[in-house]
Amino acid sequence: MPAGATPRQGELQMGHMPVTTDDEDTSSVTTREPLGTSRIAASLKRARIRQIQLCSRGLRLVDSVPRTFAVIKWLRRLPVVRTILAAMTGYNKPFSSLSNAEAAISGYEGGGHCSVEYLENTAAHGQRLQLSDYPALFYIRPLLPDIKTVFDLGGGVGSLFYSYSKYIAIPSDLTWTVYDLPKTLEIGDRIARERSERRLRFTDRITDGEGVDLFIGCGSLHYFEMPLPDLLTDLTRKPRYVLVNRTPLVDGPPVATAQDGGTYRLACKLHNRLDLIHRFEAIGYELVADWRTSEASVIIPCYPDLSAPNYSGMFFQLKG
Ligand SMILES: C[S@@+](CC[C@H](N)C(=O)[O-])C[C@H]1O[C@@H](n2cnc3c(N)ncnc32)[C@H](O)[C@@H]1O
Repeated sequence: MPAGATPRQGELQMGHMPVTTDDEDTSSVTTREPLGTSRIAASLKRARIRQIQLCSRGLRLVDSVPRTFAVIKWLRRLPVVRTILAAMTGYNKPFSSLSNAEAAISGYEGGGHCSVEYLENTAAHGQRLQLSDYPALFYIRPLLPDIKTVFDLGGGVGSLFYSYSKYIAIPSDLTWTVYDLPKTLEIGDRIARERSERRLRFTDRITDGEGVDLFIGCGSLHYFEMPLPDLLTDLTRKPRYVLVNRTPLVDGPPVATAQDGGTYRLACKLHNRLDLIHRFEAIGYELVADWRTSEASVIIPCYPDLSAPNYSGMFFQLKG
């Protein structure tokens, strides 16, 4: 199976070795909303989340020792061991699709992008730059006199716009359009109006990225099942430049899993690095630069070989 192709339900290809993902194993307590459930049930669920978090943390530590991981890797081929590990780590395991990962976290305060805590964090706009922002700014800054339109996929409340505008002069006639989930767009729009910020726009249509000068996918591509180039194929006029940043990519098969934010959980997809580049090339882009930063990672307990130990960035331009 070529890297990047959608694996069969419940199976991922690891080199020539099939790795069973046990998607069908529903170790979640329930997939229903906790509305009307008793206090005991809510406490049990909190206890189960805590247990998953502690076991996952412990197993990640064990995995970080190459020798013990070699043993785990051998043992996890056995169905009985996989069942035990799945019971210990709950939603923190490999899934063959984003929707399967979403289903697994749905009983555990999943869908975290809409949680109050997550939105409050996201709303902490104007945050300090992260390491990965420096290469991004290095490539964006020289373009600024020429670019008039930016599309920011999963741009939150406009956090990148606010933080970048402290370091680069974003012209008054530049339009920076943020695409995100409805609740986040609402908050972003309110903040922009409070700040009388006219360069920021908010949209729920990816097609508004049609023909933009710069398309940004920062910290968001792993929340989409489709690799970014496939989303861009719907645009008849392709963006001139594409910045991919803060993206957990893997060198092995694409895999979905959960990110645990403590009080909320998110389903995410780890796309394959080379496959992503090849898909961009297939729609007319050339890779100008790529980088990796260790500011974040997505490590699946017992499966560090399927995980993303760092976040990646890439800068593409349309050929010709
Ligand atoms: C980690 S934040 C990144 C925010 C910002 N781009 C940055 O790098 O600081 C991920 C963003 O992706 C958004 N997102 C996740 N899934 C999405 C979807 N299906 N459609 C639109 N936005 C989505 C979230 O709401 C959130 O604002």
